[in-house]
Amino acid sequence: MKEVEKPVGIFDSGLGGLTVFRELRSMLPGENLIYFGDTARVPYGTKSAEAVIAFSKEITSFLLARKIKLLVVACNTASSLALEEVRGISPVPVLGVIEPGAAAALAAAPRGGRVLVTGTTATVNSRAYSRALAGSGVKVAERACPLFVPLVEEGWCSKPVALQVAREYLAPFRGRADALILGCTHYPLLKKVIARVMGPRTRIVDSARTAAQAARDELAARGLLNPGRRGRSEFVVSDAPERFSALAHRLLGIRTGRVEIKRF
Ligand code: DGL
Repeated sequence: MKEVEKPVGIFDSGLGGLTVFRELRSMLPGENLIYFGDTARVPYGTKSAEAVIAFSKEITSFLLARKIKLLVVACNTASSLALEEVRGISPVPVLGVIEPGAAAALAAAPRGGRVLVTGTTATVNSRAYSRALAGSGVKVAERACPLFVPLVEEGWCSKPVALQVAREYLAPFRGRADALILGCTHYPLLKKVIARVMGPRTRIVDSARTAAQAARDELAARGLLNPGRRGRSEFVVSDAPERFSALAHRLLGIRTGRVEIKRF
């Protein structure tokens, strides 16, 4: 296989990383993409750093064996806790979602403005976004929203309970942030309810798009872009492939076709 034809690997704890997959697919139609969702072990956001590192390394080894040319860690929790360890075992470049998310927030908030980071408990406790934004002149607050991931994985993004949960977490910040970072790849699926709670003066920053742009720039810089127009999409999960496929279609409009299963 020619270098450019090798797939780009993408992984997340479940289906949240499909928000990054969808951006990559529309931005780079010629790329072969392989997506791994760790549906047997989701959520990552409530687990220890040791567990997230071990899972991330297992998935990375699996994707490397599939001859990927670039790895996108499409999970904020894994990007916060395991990026260095994943880079340590990967001969191909590895991109996370924290830096692109922080860059997008800086573009959206004025200097001296206020940025609210939302994410899983593990991401917020790691302070990865606060570190990435340090010295940029914005004021950062962080809020863990642990019930958001199960709501998304249940497919309940537009039920009244989603708005109620969003109010519990975010009502105290209404009107008090210039930008809100959706610091979990599941959260773009709750963007409408989050925007409704935060009010019109908060820009909602979705790192999925900026992460996809970073991947495109990395491939271009290395001369690895696949110029074709009909790239292959493959999906692998660690459990319940039919459920993954049904939710991918219902929530993101993605038709996965057959989903492979890989148990660790
Ligand atoms: N979607 C992931 C993230 O970006 C993980 C959510 C979870 O598994 O808790 O953080």
